[in-house]
Amino acid sequence: PTIYVITPTYARLVQKAELTRLSHTFLLVPQLHWIVVEDSPHRTGLVSEFLSHSGLAFTHLHVATPHERKLQEGDPSWLKPRGAEQRNEGLRWLRENIRSQEGGVIYFADDDNTYSLQLFEEMRWTQRVSVWPVGLVGGMRYERPIVEQGHVVRFHTGWRPSRPFPLDMAGFAVSLRLVLANPEARFDGDAPMGFLESSFLQSLVTMEELEPKADLCTKVLVWHTRTEKPKMKREEAMQKQGLGSDPAVEV
Ligand code: UGA
Ligand code: MN
Repeated sequence: PTIYVITPTYARLVQKAELTRLSHTFLLVPQLHWIVVEDSPHRTGLVSEFLSHSGLAFTHLHVATPHERKLQEGDPSWLKPRGAEQRNEGLRWLRENIRSQEGGVIYFADDDNTYSLQLFEEMRWTQRVSVWPVGLVGGMRYERPIVEQGHVVRFHTGWRPSRPFPLDMAGFAVSLRLVLANPEARFDGDAPMGFLESSFLQSLVTMEELEPKADLCTKVLVWHTRTEKPKMKREEAMQKQGLGSDPAVEV
């Protein structure tokens, strides 16, 4: 089965670096189709050029997060969910363009996380929804589903374990068939903090139905890494002296 990876992405200094790193992982994964959804009112030149030279099978989409749902400069990062509209746009494209007979798996891969190649082989045979641990997330070494007698019975997480699915976005994959059979399943951009994943998964499965991967959820194969925002102090100072860098050089 093909793995359809949906990645929301937005313009910022580290965007091309993130996409480069991610694409080099995906190039090593057989039968992967990358659905890149820009948080933008149009497809940008940077991402278009990047994708056309990436060597990957891809679909390039875009949808701007409405102003009232977008984080503003200075807002704490947890205030509003990020990437919800973009993931929904990826789902819309799949529902309109892919037939269920083909089989397939959908994975939501943020552009800043770190993914092992083994993760993709774990998720490839997902029947409904598969799950696994995520490293370096939620203020913990890892979060994970707890498996007893082959079934997920609860979750190891430090924060509101009573959420319907206290999982990070990086911790699950869903079958294309299940998504096509549930046309109303989508991410709720108004979901309270920590409930974005639950808003989608709730209409698809129950906890008992989750398929534990990565050695019964004992192995960390994906890490919720975050990239530091680069400092531009010198850049600004040099610009003031008329010694600014060439804007024609893409970073
Ligand atoms: C955590 C989760 O890992 C995310 O899956 C979840 O969407 C997010 O929290 C949330 O609360 O909404 P975190 O590292 O805090 O992740 O989020 P980011 O990596 O900053 O953003 C998630 C994705 O959305 C990234 O692929 C990013 O490029 C994209 N994004 C972010 C946008 O498309 N637009 C934005 O304005 C910000
Ligand atoms: Mn992130």
